[in-house]
Amino acid sequence: MRAQLRVLVVGILLGALVAAATAARPTPPPDMVVYKSASCGCCKQWVDYLKAKGYTVTSKDLDDAALASIKAELGVTRGVSSCHTAVIAGYVIEGHVPAGDIERLLREKPKVLGLAAPGMPGAAPGMDTSKDPYDVLTFDAKGTTTVFSHH
Ligand code: CU
Ligand code: CU
Repeated sequence: MRAQLRVLVVGILLGALVAAATAARPTPPPDMVVYKSASCGCCKQWVDYLKAKGYTVTSKDLDDAALASIKAELGVTRGVSSCHTAVIAGYVIEGHVPAGDIERLLREKPKVLGLAAPGMPGAAPGMDTSKDPYDVLTFDAKGTTTVFSHH
């Protein structure tokens, strides 16, 4: 009886430990696919930056024509366009968007196509060539943008 009780107590303690460990672990972000050109160095640096943040990223290297048609298909207009185009949880991430903005997008789930850091802001992750301020925008299929965040 005593031994059984001890097994029971140990069992409960182990169960609580496992539950605590599971609860403490943050849920990993959804997988991301990045379309880019093979020769793009800053694209690779942005991918590495996201991997370091815990993202699972699959890179697909395309030629310029294929990249342009993916952008068109996904609704990336010229005004918001940048070097690479990513897709995560049904949202489009265009260019060097910081991880914090992606997390907020996935949390708030606004009705937009996605986020863009148009052009290649020097202070954005994966660029790291300046400290000039830049904005991350939301964009929709009509090319309407709103400022999502200032950096
Ligand atoms: Cu770039
Ligand atoms: Cu890029």
